[in-house]
Amino acid sequence: MMKTLIIKAARKAGELLMEKFERGIPVEFKGKYDLVTEADRHSEALIVKMIREQYPDHDILAEEGTYKRQNSGYRWIIDPLDGTTNYAHGYPWFAVSIALEVRGSLELGVVYNPYNGEFYYAERGTGAFLNDRRVQVSTIGTLERSLTATGFAYDHKHCKANNYDYFAKFQKAAQACRRPGVASLDLASVAAGRFDGFWEMKLKPWDIAAGILLVQEAGGLVTDFDGRKMTLDSLECLASNRLIHEEMQQILQQGCRPHQDL
Ligand code: IPD
Ligand code: CA
Ligand code: CA
Repeated sequence: MMKTLIIKAARKAGELLMEKFERGIPVEFKGKYDLVTEADRHSEALIVKMIREQYPDHDILAEEGTYKRQNSGYRWIIDPLDGTTNYAHGYPWFAVSIALEVRGSLELGVVYNPYNGEFYYAERGTGAFLNDRRVQVSTIGTLERSLTATGFAYDHKHCKANNYDYFAKFQKAAQACRRPGVASLDLASVAAGRFDGFWEMKLKPWDIAAGILLVQEAGGLVTDFDGRKMTLDSLECLASNRLIHEEMQQILQQGCRPHQDL
């Protein structure tokens, strides 16, 4: 069963990440600022192996590897370690994120933080859960009262759409704005009502697939900065409890948008 598999794979990968986290492992560089560790690669290999054993003809999209397209209608979207920078510095805020898309529709999603044991699960049509307890987005109705979150793409030090202006604006307009460093957990935190809103630019499908489903199933909204339907390839991601969506959109429409960098 796919539900059992996605849960088991995330738990096993989480165990692996914790083992290596406690031991401390060397870091390599993918780009000037973009890190990778053997934990990223081993976690991905473990998840892919578990999927392949049961569903050898399913498609896989994952951060660290390239997998042959099979056009199966089933696609597993995997971030084997979200929050590598935190992880590599020993800062205990990271996650495994896995989603299953069936014929273009996100159907299952898990985001697991193995350090604190918080396990988020969502299934289309049945809700979003944190450690088996149903979660809902918050009911805060104004940006002024909201706790928001964001993140910065790896190219932020030398690109125009670097998110700095937006960050300053939200820090002023909202009650506060955070930058935790793990997009999947930021979205999961919107689903759980801990954050009221989140935005980021240039995220990849594996950063957001599970988180989008979690937010939607918790009653929230995920769009681009113009309020249009969000796809996994969108360069803009805006997620909220719905109530503050328009206020966030107004700020995000008046800044340097990611397509201005292209
Ligand atoms: C990153 C994290 C971070 C976000 C970056 C992502 P990684 O993923 O989700 O919060 O701001 O845009 O690339 O590289 O740690 O898997
Ligand atoms: Ca990621
Ligand atoms: Ca990653």
